Amino acid sequence: MPEVIGTIDELRNRLGETRDKAAMLGGDTRVVLVPTMGALHAGHMALIRRARQLGDIVFVSIFVNPLQFGVGEDLDRYPRTLEADLQALAAEGVPFVFAPTAREMYPASTNDTRVVAGPVGSLYEGAARPGHFDGMLTVVAKLLNIVTPDTAVFGQKDAQQVFLVQSMLADLNVRVAVEVVPTVREASGLALSSRNSNLDPAEREAATALSAGLTSAQLDAAQGAAAALDAAHALIDAQPLVKLDYLVVVHPQTFLPIESDYRGPARMLVAAIVGTTRLIDNVSLTLA
Ligand code: PAJ
Repeated sequence: MPEVIGTIDELRNRLGETRDKAAMLGGDTRVVLVPTMGALHAGHMALIRRARQLGDIVFVSIFVNPLQFGVGEDLDRYPRTLEADLQALAAEGVPFVFAPTAREMYPASTNDTRVVAGPVGSLYEGAARPGHFDGMLTVVAKLLNIVTPDTAVFGQKDAQQVFLVQSMLADLNVRVAVEVVPTVREASGLALSSRNSNLDPAEREAATALSAGLTSAQLDAAQGAAAALDAAHALIDAQPLVKLDYLVVVHPQTFLPIESDYRGPARMLVAAIVGTTRLIDNVSLTLA
């Protein structure tokens, strides 16, 4: 079983010892962090497998960060499955799990300093979830400062999160490499998400319209952005259980919506409410 570390002091001690020991033995001292909120599934496991290739000293953090949940969001019903998570991590040979309490991360003495995302933080997911990305960036900055990894691993599934983390690291001159792992999907195409466990069978079936729509858009991207959007809408809008929030094509460098005559690499983002569950997905497109 991985060693579960609950406090920042303990983590720093174990990290120091582990680095010193590896250095003394002439071993690999690279530290890799995989930040998660637990309820681990095969998507997280793909990140963890990649992390194991990038360094020997792998830390997986499990922390359901209250700061990135808004009022009325699913903080309380977010799945918490620590025992099963530890079993899964043991099978992957992860040595350390950092699982702090909210009090440990946000003690009563905190002065509530926050990381504020740039304008992209208020678009798409940020428009639907005000403050979400500031909370996410704040906890990621804290985790990076606590674990001081060489590399942090994130999933492409949360494309806007990846963009904003990379922006934060560049804007604040943080020397951590980011590794991005492709989205892991079910055979149906549905992107794996901890929130999928909230879907009933009919909703789960309907939710596959999101990935099917994105795949259809990829195929039609050679005819331009409008054709790609039409293709996605045709499948997604046909599903009564899927309430579309946004479907947008963004520039990969700025993450802003593309101009209608733009050609080149782009990313299509989708978000929808299925039943009561908010789902997101995205794919890369080449617009011709
Ligand atoms: P969480 O939703 O637990 O996701 C942890 C990491 O797993 C993220 O980098 C996410 O993009 C990745 N991930 C989730 N589903 C995936 C899938 N189907 N394929 C590939 N990667 C996938 O994202 C968060 O937690 C939090 O915002 C966090 C970064 C931990 C900060 O609190």
